[in-house]
Amino acid sequence: MSIFITGVAGFVGTNLAAAMLKRGDKVSGFDNLSLGSARNVEAIRRHGAFDFEVVDLADVDAYRRALRALHARSPVTEVWHLAASSDIAAGVADAGVDLRDTFMTTYNTLLLMKELGIGTIVFASSSAVYGDLGERKLSEDTGPLFPISNYGAMKLASEGVISAALESHLQRAFVFRFPNVAGVPATHGVILDFVRKLRASPGNLDVLGDGSQRKSYLHVDELVDAMLFVRSRARERLGYYNIGADDEGVTVHFIAQQVVQLVAPGARITFGQGSKGWVGDVPKFAYATDKLSKLGWRPTLSSAEAIRKAIGQIAEQERAR
Ligand SMILES: NC(=O)c1ccc[n+]([C@@H]2O[C@H](COP(=O)([O-])OP(=O)(O)OC[C@H]3O[C@@H](n4cnc5c(N)ncnc54)[C@H](O)[C@@H]3O)[C@@H](O)[C@H]2O)c1
Repeated sequence: MSIFITGVAGFVGTNLAAAMLKRGDKVSGFDNLSLGSARNVEAIRRHGAFDFEVVDLADVDAYRRALRALHARSPVTEVWHLAASSDIAAGVADAGVDLRDTFMTTYNTLLLMKELGIGTIVFASSSAVYGDLGERKLSEDTGPLFPISNYGAMKLASEGVISAALESHLQRAFVFRFPNVAGVPATHGVILDFVRKLRASPGNLDVLGDGSQRKSYLHVDELVDAMLFVRSRARERLGYYNIGADDEGVTVHFIAQQVVQLVAPGARITFGQGSKGWVGDVPKFAYATDKLSKLGWRPTLSSAEAIRKAIGQIAEQERAR
């Protein structure tokens, strides 16, 4: 397999590339380093030969030039498309951020796959496509899908253009709807935010929202394991899967307490108002993962265990910075 990963210098991309290199795949990737880092790329290189270039995938001409050259050197057999804006707040302030980095990166990737005759895409989608459906457990057939953030809207639009491309030039597609993913190298997310706040002011932790938000979490090691498992076992032409723990998730209150205990014992936790941390935040979600478990994959860690493991790792990452 010769796999091309977009957004490879980010949190999930780094872990995915390392796992693929370890099992002997040829791996290449592009990233514009807007959120990912050169340090992450160095970490991937420790696992084997890895072809990397800094490319902005929203710039279709630059993307075409770089991908054509890469494909000529070493033909790509499939694309794992992970590039997106993971900065939800930036997308709230300016909808153009998600149009460009979450949607146009998908659109351009499909266009170039058509030009180069690459038939398989694996797409990193999100629970954000479901919108706010209250207490309902989300299965792959849950609908209607009305996202409440620009990020979720552009992920759903990306799923749409992938399904349309299957009708014309793609041979296979996998759509993986991630939950909240935790681990290292952390580039964003609630744990990193809390750890950094506490390191800056160890006496107090300000939490966005009232702490009652409850969400499903998965450790990145398990996410990568699940993706590789589904890629090898699923037989559908369009395989779409919720990936996550089959539990009720954990609250922001729980995460805040766990981070305080490890990073700054005794710090006071101050909660904000309302059940949402920010505009577009989905306050509660949990997955039904029957489809994934029927295929034969289950996580070994619950949401709470994934959070505890990630807190230790992220605290260590920040100490070493
Ligand atoms: N981490 C999570 O909790 C989570 C949850 C749901 C979905 N996802 C999705 O999984 C994927 C990976 O997320 P992550 O957590 O690793 O985020 P991340 O921000 O660490 O990685 C995304 C990478 O894409 C790159 N990128 C963004 N715009 C680009 C552009 N125009 N050109 C080239 N590169 C660009 C960034 O520099 C970054 O390295 C994303 O698509 C994200 O939306 C992540």
